[in-house]
Amino acid sequence: MDDPAKKPWRPGAAAAMLGPAMRKRFFLPAAPAGAAGPLPFAADAPWLAPLAGYSDLPFRLLCRHYGAAVCVTEMVSAKGLVYKSPGTGELLRSLPEDQPLVVQLFGAEPEVLGSAVRTLRGAGYAWFDCNMGCSVPKVMRQGAGAALLGDAERALACARAMIAEAAPGRVGFKLRLGIDRERMVLPDLALRLEDAGAGWLTLHPRTARQGFGGSADWEEIARLAARLSIPLLASGDLLTAQDGIRCLAETGATALMYARGALHDPAIFAAHLALSRGESPPAPDAAALRAMIGLHVRLAREHGGSAGALLKMRSLAPRYVRFLPGVRVLRQRLCRCTDWQDLETALDEFLDSAGLP
Ligand SMILES: Cc1cc2nc3c(=O)[nH]c(=O)nc-3n(C[C@H](O)[C@H](O)[C@H](O)COP(=O)(O)O)c2cc1C
Repeated sequence: MDDPAKKPWRPGAAAAMLGPAMRKRFFLPAAPAGAAGPLPFAADAPWLAPLAGYSDLPFRLLCRHYGAAVCVTEMVSAKGLVYKSPGTGELLRSLPEDQPLVVQLFGAEPEVLGSAVRTLRGAGYAWFDCNMGCSVPKVMRQGAGAALLGDAERALACARAMIAEAAPGRVGFKLRLGIDRERMVLPDLALRLEDAGAGWLTLHPRTARQGFGGSADWEEIARLAARLSIPLLASGDLLTAQDGIRCLAETGATALMYARGALHDPAIFAAHLALSRGESPPAPDAAALRAMIGLHVRLAREHGGSAGALLKMRSLAPRYVRFLPGVRVLRQRLCRCTDWQDLETALDEFLDSAGLP
């Protein structure tokens, strides 16, 4: 299966292909007006999860079109921000219609994370999340992401530094269960984060060692939800809107965020909202698929930010039609597309010939 979790777009891949003349210098875009508005925490207000390499501005706008109530950026290196690493600011490009937006940071040093929040606050950003769940070795080796779960005192120092720089209730923390089954951190770390002034928590109930293996243990979400006074967002194995509704009912989580479910089908948000209203989600059809792909291409074209947007879309578009015959040929054809017109023609011709109802 063409699972993007297994074959992620590498952030920076486009820049590497562009050549030195076109590579970006550090630039921190100001947050759009309205960035400080409230965050909804409710069963009928589904969030888009942070997705490194994917939850960029065009994809966030696409998900919002289908009803995502809040979007989280790709994880942003706190060090990259503080030391003005080229490309870091790119991850923060936004628009007024891309609100409310939560900026997710990763890092391991309290002073660097605090300083990153201070910088972002200065640029108008209002909502932050700290990544305490990424199990990718490159991140964990720096002591960041899920590695923080193995050092509760450091995790709390990072949390306090971020909260001190943001207004109360404006920082969330995204957790896994622990490094492994022998080193579980719940509920202790979660309760201490709540005491420290966390605005909300998100739990992806797998251990770091599990990566994406096995299944998400929703019972852990239910246990934590029963202990917390602040909102708890559920994450993990929410691959369809039906999964999301069931997870909320079974766990008592305040809200949820869709990750791989949204990557495979951004219209998952519309389906979630329909189910929340007690209605049946619209049946997927050829016209809806064409409209969704067309909208993503248009948003990437308008807001993708650089020539890299075309390269990225060449690898993203086939994922939406991965279940149709001939996708391999489509992928090969897209690889040869050198402009947006080529890409749109290739997609149109593929959809015309796919024999969709
Ligand atoms: C491609 C990909 C990129 C991800 N990037 C991030 C990230 O930047 N920060 C983060 O906290 N979690 C990240 N995650 C984890 C998701 O936000 C989510 O917690 C996880 O996928 C579990 O939800 P799901 O099983 O419904 O996909 C990523 C997951 C995937 C598949």
